[in-house]
Amino acid sequence: MTTTGRAQAAAAAEPTSLFLRACRRLPVERTPVWLMRQAGRYMPEYRALRQQHGILDIIRSPELAAEVTLQPIRAFGFDAAIIFADILPPLVGMGLELAFTEGGGPRIRNRITGPRDVDRLAAPPAEETMPHTLEAIRIVARELAASGTPLIGFAGAPFTLACYAIEGGSSKSFTKAKALMFGDPAAWKRLMTKLVTVQADYLAAQARAGAQALQVFDSWAGIALGLTDYRRFALPYTALLLDRLKAIGVPVIHFSMGTSYYLDEVARAGGDVIGVDWRRPLDEAWQAIGDDRAIQGNLDPAALLAPWRELRFQLDDVLDRAARRPGHIFNLGHGVLPETPVDHVRRLVGHVHERTAIAQ
Ligand code: CP3
Repeated sequence: MTTTGRAQAAAAAEPTSLFLRACRRLPVERTPVWLMRQAGRYMPEYRALRQQHGILDIIRSPELAAEVTLQPIRAFGFDAAIIFADILPPLVGMGLELAFTEGGGPRIRNRITGPRDVDRLAAPPAEETMPHTLEAIRIVARELAASGTPLIGFAGAPFTLACYAIEGGSSKSFTKAKALMFGDPAAWKRLMTKLVTVQADYLAAQARAGAQALQVFDSWAGIALGLTDYRRFALPYTALLLDRLKAIGVPVIHFSMGTSYYLDEVARAGGDVIGVDWRRPLDEAWQAIGDDRAIQGNLDPAALLAPWRELRFQLDDVLDRAARRPGHIFNLGHGVLPETPVDHVRRLVGHVHERTAIAQ
């Protein structure tokens, strides 16, 4: 059997893990929970490691990346692990120079400034450019095999990656990216098409290495784009990427930020599971997405900073709106904030598990 054939056969059999069952909207004995950015600075174990290593050093060292991936699984018993990596390193293989500044976030030293830079971008295979992350996935998949905890691989959506590549870092107004998008739509199309090629190959390689689900992060689409521009400049490429991933045979989570108002369009772009931010109540969001999809979300990450009574109120609100319908994966509406008390994460996991457990 080919590798793809094997992946498809494995996916066709009914999964036993709560998370993979929920991805396929199968009934579960309790709601699965994991958190975006569950490995990171709010954990003392992670901060200790970061005293000695930069973030890119951790990502590029398979043993360290595997260790950081497993820290929150050991500490809190999440129902899924997400490989410790970042959405930006695949841009390095395309020819961009990436650094993380202390406290200042990511920087690209040779950002894309025009069509000629777009045409200079390479599209080498992930096996050549991302071997460290693929090896980290193999290590973690082996470690988790006994407990049956699934591992999620991930990549950035083309729009979000294009923003970083053109802006050279984070942005509030996305003026440089929009200047290229509006001013040279042909160059924009070439850039987005290259990003689709690279990300599709990278995600397929992660599944081959042992990732049992894949998440595509579109952090900026809804922050930067209104509905008309989302349809013109982002959706076609996200749809192309998600369509290519179908052949892999593992469930795909499509997460985006700021897209509450056009979640129906986000769902139209594709994904077995739609990851939603906290801006729209979960029941309304699910209605907009349609009941042929699973949903992931959507507690406000800042609720984890609140006193327990407020945190519990907001947790219960999300759970009540999900109403235990098959296909809900509990998560935040964005990543865990660095200020988050570890004890609140522990209580969150316990509460979701207890409140949603079916009495046997
Ligand atoms: O979820 C996990 O536990 C897996 C690890 C993960 C990281 N980045 C590690 C990281 C994941 C899934 C990401 C995705 C990512 N990276 C996104 C999409 C999700 C989102 O937050 O919208 C984006 C936009 C990035 C780009 C990025 N990486 C930024 C803007 C920053 C700096 C700001 C920040 O949050 O610190 C990073 C750095 C980064 N990536 C850190 C971690 C744990 C913090 C770096 C540190 O340890 O100093």
